[in-house]
Order: sequence, then structure tokens, then C-alpha cells
Amino acid sequence: MMFPLARPLVLVMVGLPARGKTYLARKLTRYLTWHGYRAEVFNVGNYRRARLGADQPATFFDPSNPEGRAAREALAEAALDDLIAWVRTGGQVAIYDATNSTRARRATVRRRLAEEGLEPIFVESATTDAALVEANVRETKLSSPDYRDKDPDSAMADFRARIAHYERAYEPVDDPDGSFVKIIDIGRKIIAHRISGYLPAQLVSYLSNLHVTPRPIYLTRHGESEYNLDGRVGGDPELTDRGLGYVRHLSQFLQRALAEAGEPPQVWCSTLRRAMITAGALPWSPVSLRSLDEIDAGACDGWTYDEIAARLPEDARARAHDKLRYRYPRGESYLDVIQRVQPVVVEIERQRAPVVVVAHNAVIRVLYGYFTGRLPEEVPRLEIPLHTIIRLVPKAYGADEQRFELGP
Ligand code: F6P
Repeated sequence: MMFPLARPLVLVMVGLPARGKTYLARKLTRYLTWHGYRAEVFNVGNYRRARLGADQPATFFDPSNPEGRAAREALAEAALDDLIAWVRTGGQVAIYDATNSTRARRATVRRRLAEEGLEPIFVESATTDAALVEANVRETKLSSPDYRDKDPDSAMADFRARIAHYERAYEPVDDPDGSFVKIIDIGRKIIAHRISGYLPAQLVSYLSNLHVTPRPIYLTRHGESEYNLDGRVGGDPELTDRGLGYVRHLSQFLQRALAEAGEPPQVWCSTLRRAMITAGALPWSPVSLRSLDEIDAGACDGWTYDEIAARLPEDARARAHDKLRYRYPRGESYLDVIQRVQPVVVEIERQRAPVVVVAHNAVIRVLYGYFTGRLPEEVPRLEIPLHTIIRLVPKAYGADEQRFELGP
């Protein structure tokens, strides 16, 4: 499902504090991990907190303070050494999360990586919108270990002083020979310079669709179908009476939940009858997408699990052993589904209005796995019961989750 990488990719974050670098680094890691890549973030701030304690005052970050500067350089090097060691053991995409805010610092990083045959892509996050910085500081920095137990006003003042120190030394990325991506105001504008290859290009597209406006994402399977009653996989069955009952409850629930949203939701469903009937009962017209269709059970379509075990015992064993990679004869594996659902993930990320997805067991597992940061191996066994709607609100570092069981 994933394209092999000719060589490991190293993304080097660049930007002043509170420009969303860590947010972007973690989003990228989560996206890549869900795709099946070995990806890892090396955050220099964590090295500082682990080695020197969390409570360094703003003066520590003053570029004219030689001790602070030497200590910060040593931390940056330690993180880079660990990144390189990790790449040597088979890491595929490493993200170096630090300010890297001067040309000299970036040249050192580039030189060190070149010794390993690696060429970085710099990912600079810049903000022209002061409100975005302020919101980022309030949402993430004031609750970070750096300011634990500090009163918010003095924490805010200290953080502003820290930013001011970095601003004095800051040099934007501008190397015409290097590869870089500049992200202005988290996705409002993107500049990609000397970016080639499938994965880097995909990452640019992913980054250009991110934003930080909170909005809910509702995920649900269709109402109970006749095949659910018999335990049959696939097919294109009708809903049972119980399933139709869920459809009514779902519609009432969502109308109530979204009454104050201001904007109507985007409703997306698969092209299969059971999902179209469920989504079609909502007061907003759904868009039906093939990429949301249930995992294709191929030759086993319409069979029960017992029939599969009796008629294709080898397949049943192979699936139990590796449910992620097992592909039904002439059908799909979970890895195939992850690949096919990936554009929908980017579309959901892009939306600022609420999104409602009405799909199927395997497809909802895949979407839920992405938004909650699961490994691909976990995805095929996630619990997604019928007649339950899951509400996720993506936050800076994860998603808030609520589940509502709706009768009957
Ligand atoms: O049983 C309902 C269903 O949506 C089937 O159509 C599909 O094959 C199955 O769930 C996916 O779940 P699992 O991968 O656990 O078999």
C-alpha cells in the first residue's frame, strides 16, 4: 500500500516558538504512522526539559547569553544524534522538531545529515496572524510542563519574552538550492520549493489542508442491515426494522447536536444501499463516495464467517493471523482500505464545517484509527458497534471523543 522510500526522509521544522511546529510535526507523524511508515518526532524541547528541567526562564533563550546558547546547541545536537541513530536502525521518516531559526543552525543540521547521505526538507511554519499565535500559546504552551504551576499572566509574559529573543535572531528559510516547504498561518498559504517524489508531494498536499479551527466529526455505521442479522459480510442488503429505527434516532440526534453549529454539516456516505438509506434520512443532502464502501470481501462476499472458515480454512487462518494485510480473494485487505480512504481523510481535515460520515465497520475503523492516532495493526480490531455515533473533535494533540448509543 505504501510506496517504498529510496532513502529515509528527514523533515526539519523551522519557526519561532508558538507557530504550530509541534502540532504539524505530530500531525505528520500520525498520518505517516497510520499509513504504515515508521515515523518519529525528535523534539528538542523535550530534551531540554528532561536534561535541564522544565523551568528555564526566558533569559535562557537570549541569543546574547553564551551559556544558554551553548546549552541549547548541545541539546539540539543530542536530539539530532538520536534522530540519526534511529534512521540507521530502519526509521523511515524522521521529523526534527526545533526552532532551527538561523541559517547557521540549518547549515549545521544539513552538514550533519549529509554525512549520513541524507538531505533534509525544511518545513517552516510562519504566522502573520497574531491571534493564531496567541491562541496557540494559550491552548498549548500555558498548559505545557514549562509553565506548570505558574500563574497564566506571568507565564504569558515569560513566553512573549522567549519569542522576542528568537525573533531577534530569526532568519527565514530561503536557500534556493535546498528543498523546503513554507506554511503560512497553518495552511492558508503554502510554498513548496524543490519538492519531488511521491511521499514528499503527498505531505505537501496534506499540510496544505490542515487548519486549527475546532469542529466536530461524527462517524457512524449504517443502521442494522439484513446481513448484520445473519452475520454475512459485504453485499448490498436493505435495513431491518431495527436499523430503520436507528436512522430516525440518528436524524433527531444530529439535528439537535448541530442546531447551534451555524453552518450545515457535510454529510458523506458510501454508495451502498444501507449507508445511503441511513444518510438519506438526514435533513442535509449526502454525497456518496465509492471510497467509503465497505471492505471488498471479494470471493467471500455474502458469506458468513462460518462459511468462510468451512470453505476457505486457509484464508480464515491467514486473516486471523494478520487481519491488517490479509486480502480476500479478488477483494481487499485493511491496508487497501487505508490507502483508498486516505483522500477522504485529507478532505475531512480540510473542512471547517462539521462532518458526518455514514459508512461501514472496516471503513469507520480506518477513519477512527487515523483521528485517534492508532497504529495500522490496531485498526482491524477497533470496536465500532452498530447504532452508536462517535463524535470526535480534533485538538492540538489528539481528539476529544464521545460515543452515543442511540436506540433501538
Ligand atoms: O459485518 C459487517 C461488516 O461491515 C462486513 O460487511 C465486513 O466485511 C465486516 O463488517 C468487516 O469487519 P471484519 O473486518 O471484522 O470482518
